[in-house]
Amino acid sequence: MDLNICVLPGDGIGPEIIEQAVVVLEKVCEKFGHKLSLDEAQIGGVAIDAHNTPLPQATIDKCLASDAVLMGAIGGPKWDKIDKSIRPERGLLGIRKALGLYANLRPAKLWDELKDASFLKDSVIGDGLDIMVVRELIGGIYFGEPRGEGVDENGERYAYNTMVYKESEVKRIVKLAFEIARKRGSKLHSVEKANVLDVSQLWNEVAEEVSKDYSDVDYHTMYVDNCAMQLVRNPGQFDTIVTGNLFGDIISDEASMITGSIGMLPSASIGDGKVSLFEPIHGSAPDITGTGKANPLATILSVSMMLRYSFDLDAEADLIEATVAKVLAEGYRTADIMEDGKECLSCSEMGALVASKL
Ligand code: NAD
Ligand code: IPM
Ligand code: MN
Repeated sequence: MDLNICVLPGDGIGPEIIEQAVVVLEKVCEKFGHKLSLDEAQIGGVAIDAHNTPLPQATIDKCLASDAVLMGAIGGPKWDKIDKSIRPERGLLGIRKALGLYANLRPAKLWDELKDASFLKDSVIGDGLDIMVVRELIGGIYFGEPRGEGVDENGERYAYNTMVYKESEVKRIVKLAFEIARKRGSKLHSVEKANVLDVSQLWNEVAEEVSKDYSDVDYHTMYVDNCAMQLVRNPGQFDTIVTGNLFGDIISDEASMITGSIGMLPSASIGDGKVSLFEPIHGSAPDITGTGKANPLATILSVSMMLRYSFDLDAEADLIEATVAKVLAEGYRTADIMEDGKECLSCSEMGALVASKL
């Protein structure tokens, strides 16, 4: 098969983790006889430095011309004070919107081999944890209008954003989440704040209607504050979670910690179009950039999601996941999943190890 991948390394640890993910991708393609073409493009801070915009048109064009996009991470202190209309984060939001990627799938799984890295007690972990967060990605408060800032009649500054969802936007993400839940543990929690927010009340009404077509799926609603607490108290009760853009951003970072480290969590951003985007859920980690401490496994596992979702290459995806499990079972760790002071692998050592054991 021909695989045309657009690679967006981005900022901070982005290029470091992408380099290792590409090593693994190349090895898998070689092993299975696929023809891999990689095309690199700029996004985020590097694009601001070169073109004064976090998302050059050339990057959008390259993504649209590819079969799938593999991204590292964007952002960093260097660009935190610049005009907010061209912040690195706008580049990421822009490419998600341009590709119509309305669903972000963030599987938070506790690898058996990593039980010792979880911060939760064995009694809370039970038989293991495997949660899929389905986050709406191109709506809600991230994109709602009006937004802006001003100064009132007393000279006091204010700023505002709008959390808005249309019925059709809720319907498509909830429907997708039910389909995903059906193929997993047949249990879905819709996470919202309907006790306060009108937008969540509509969300619930629409979700309830959609649920009628999925009577085989055990459907629940849960307030987001309670969900944040339940994820730590009794994470085993969750199988699939569907939620809006902002709540999903927060809940998925939290879910990552029950599994050991944010450096382990991949994601797939998908829509109705041909091109999907795959990226770790973490950011550019400025605090460890250039130290070799970044864990490349979230990005390597994002490659696995890419092979599965964009190309139906299940055997290739399974092989990557099995190899990650093997490496972990043999005790190899990067610093984020290793006990303090014990010897661990660098980012490039971990990438090379996974590639060599495929
Ligand atoms: P972050 O995810 O970059 O880092 C949070 C913490 O997790 C840091 O201590 C970091 O060292 C650690 N961490 C993250 N990834 C790791 C990995 N692979 N291995 C080991 N440790 C890892 O979040 P932040 O510090 O809040 O944000 C830093 C920058 O990244 C900001 O500019 C933010 O906007 C951006 N960001 C980008 C994305 C993205 O590109 N998708 C996601 C989140 C944050
Ligand atoms: C993520 C990030 C992004 C988000 C930022 C950097 C725009 O936190 O991918 O989780 O909030 O979606
Ligand atoms: Mn986030």
